[in-house]
Amino acid sequence: MAGSSTVPLVVAIGGSLRPNSATEQVLRSVLDELERLGARTRLYSGQSLRLHPYAPGAGSQPNAADLLQSVRDADALVLGSPGYHGGISGLVKNALDYLEELRDDPAPYLDGKPVGCVATADGWQAAVSVLSSLRQVVHALRGWPTPYGIALNVRPHAMTAVPVMPEPDVTHQVTILAGQILQFVAAFGEVRAQAR
Ligand SMILES: Cc1cc2nc3c(=O)[nH]c(=O)nc-3n(C[C@H](O)[C@H](O)[C@H](O)COP(=O)(O)O)c2cc1C
Repeated sequence: MAGSSTVPLVVAIGGSLRPNSATEQVLRSVLDELERLGARTRLYSGQSLRLHPYAPGAGSQPNAADLLQSVRDADALVLGSPGYHGGISGLVKNALDYLEELRDDPAPYLDGKPVGCVATADGWQAAVSVLSSLRQVVHALRGWPTPYGIALNVRPHAMTAVPVMPEPDVTHQVTILAGQILQFVAAFGEVRAQAR
């Protein structure tokens, strides 16, 4: 385990500054499911992602330092972004840019950590492309995207003002994602134990 406890810690980063952020709703559901399966969780969303635009060496501002320590301690992560003009939102990407501060760690960036990815948008095109973009960022940071990711078109919810969660189809996807994250955590733990 990356942290001191034997109970895995999963850290989620994402959402938006919009009240009732759809992305945050899905992230919270993933964390709820992970807790039900026995993990500890921590969420960085909304106001906690209001960080100065990243500049190299900027990791010591209090909010950023807390986020970075949580990522260091995490056994796995969940990333979630709304699609903004076809890409990852600036708020989420800026938070991810701070992970540059982990470059010289013994386990650099997201090395050895499974990462579940969630994307929401007002259409399928941006939802799918943002899911793909998040996975590319995870690869760049040496993390392991889970095979299953969630790309969600929330347009029908925006039209009706019905919350995104809980919805049976999305709940099913959340269950798969959370299960795969903990499968990876267990598998990586076994590999580390064998290497000792
Ligand atoms: C600045 C901005 C840009 C957006 N660009 C797109 C887009 O290119 N394609 C799309 O389908 N939805 C777009 N959307 C809609 C959001 O992706 C969608 O409503 C998302 O689910 C909002 O997530 P949130 O509730 O977590 O803020 C945009 C929204 C905003 C505010």
